[in-house]
Amino acid sequence: MKQFSKLQHQLLDYLADGKCHSGNALGEQLGISRTAVWKQLNLLARLGLNVTRIPQKGYQLTPPFIAIREDRLRRNLASLKKNFDYHIFAETDSTNRYLKDLPGCDAISICCAEKQSAGRGRFGRPWVSPFGGNICLSIRYQLNCCLSKLSCLSLVVSLAILESLKKNSIHQDISVKWPNDLLWNGKKLCGILTEISSETNGYSNVIIGIGMNVNTDTTYLHLTDKACCSLYEITGKYFDRNRLIADIIVAVDLSLSRYLGNGFHLFHELWKRVDYLQGKLISVSQFSGTLSGTANGITELGQLRLVDEYGFEHHLSSGDASLGGFVPG
Ligand code: BTN
Repeated sequence: MKQFSKLQHQLLDYLADGKCHSGNALGEQLGISRTAVWKQLNLLARLGLNVTRIPQKGYQLTPPFIAIREDRLRRNLASLKKNFDYHIFAETDSTNRYLKDLPGCDAISICCAEKQSAGRGRFGRPWVSPFGGNICLSIRYQLNCCLSKLSCLSLVVSLAILESLKKNSIHQDISVKWPNDLLWNGKKLCGILTEISSETNGYSNVIIGIGMNVNTDTTYLHLTDKACCSLYEITGKYFDRNRLIADIIVAVDLSLSRYLGNGFHLFHELWKRVDYLQGKLISVSQFSGTLSGTANGITELGQLRLVDEYGFEHHLSSGDASLGGFVPG
């Protein structure tokens, strides 16, 4: 695990405006030599930060980079009046793994990293995200409820994230793909990995992992074998991830309380309006095999309704859905 030093945070603050700053000016502001500035920037570049050196002029961060910081998240989340416990890293293996191994506590634990060296996706796939451009966030709740009450959790989280995007004036046509992806124009913007285990004391340990492409240019990055996109590509704007992360946490927290209190039916209506798969011919691969048919919404339990070629409706609790029918090999 790696964390930025106080000096690196200060240096990053000066460079956060996206402009070019000379080594001399940075050194003067920080009370260190020009060589020390150069050394620190080299360390940051080795972590993966894109530091551009402009001869005779200085250094610039391209694209602009505002680090994820505990103090900013705290400030942005203060209104929620909840007890959060923060774990912010420049690099860790996986924020979900980190929270899984963290000793239990009463607080809601939050883990964010600028980069994950072993980011986890669904079905054991890797989740790749370049340093500093995106959101790699995990939220851990220790809930006094049984696993069966949490069957729609990932759907609820997808809708909550969509809500938080609207709050940030992102009104483009973003849809949810069962069970838990956010897509724009059929390209993946955000993936969610929820990991739930039951504790011996009757509590459920719930880890909600969220990977969202934010400020990156995905055309040159081969993040997955599937088409993906970023908020920057959708809107043409760069985002301060501290604001977005806080808004996601607020929306997830609110939706989780509503879901635990009232069940899924409120969310069911919302889902229908933004369901990407509705009416499409799809294939769903599961551990037991692949099923093809037409997607026909979801049930009250969050299961996908898939009508096969014989008109029989299957209710699927999990699986990996892709467009197109299954062609037997
Ligand atoms: C998927 O679509 O396959 C789910 C991707 C989930 C990625 C996030 S990034 C933060 C958290 N930590 C991980 O290792 N994975 C999740």
